[in-house]
Amino acid sequence: MKVIVCDNYDEMSLQGAKIFEKQIREKANSILGLATGSTPIGMYQHLIKMHKEEGLDFSKITSFNLDEYYPISQTNDQSYRYFMNEQLFNHINIDKNNTFVPNGEATDADLECKQYDEKIAQYGGIDIQLLGIGRNGHIGFNEPDKKLFASTHKTDLTQDTIDANSRFFDDIKDVPTKALTMGIGSIMKAKTVVLLASGKNKHEVVNAMLDDFITTDIPSTLLKAHPDFILICDKDAYEG
Ligand code: PGA
Repeated sequence: MKVIVCDNYDEMSLQGAKIFEKQIREKANSILGLATGSTPIGMYQHLIKMHKEEGLDFSKITSFNLDEYYPISQTNDQSYRYFMNEQLFNHINIDKNNTFVPNGEATDADLECKQYDEKIAQYGGIDIQLLGIGRNGHIGFNEPDKKLFASTHKTDLTQDTIDANSRFFDDIKDVPTKALTMGIGSIMKAKTVVLLASGKNKHEVVNAMLDDFITTDIPSTLLKAHPDFILICDKDAYEG
């Protein structure tokens, strides 16, 4: 595990973007694993700038997102498909047919999840996976539990996550209570994993990442077993 501590959010975002830029410049047809949430927005802005000003080319890139609310329409402005279009895909030269997000409109969620993992495997696996982190240590929507799932699956969101996500909705009652998410195994199969953590409210969970233990009560701690895992955090997350 490699730890990079940055002065502030923008520096963290730039460091993350540089790692993805290197990957894309070295392998034009890279398979990227992408994430939603407020944390990666700054990194996406840097990637957009690199595309517009420095010719970073996404034309051969394929992407797989970590998760999606369930059920939710793809045109709902709170869906993760909508978020990705708005925050990244609409501003770079990626072919949207090569961007995959679990389908929150699928009638058979289990089949959708099974086919999602199969598709990742068909494409040869994820080269580099971006992650945010929940203040409870969730990655994707793998919430703290005694038992975690290896594969993409449908899951219930914890009250803590529902509360955290309610800031994006008019009413907490509108926050979806379920999601489709890559499992811990799907994430751990990525060749490189990059986790961004920003802000004092992530300090406790970042501290747990810096300690040596692994527990399913804090799912992100499992990443310590990944052979190429990079934690990039700002000072607020690192120092509290
Ligand atoms: P955030 O969410 O980036 O909005 O803090 C991260 C997460 O819940 O994974």
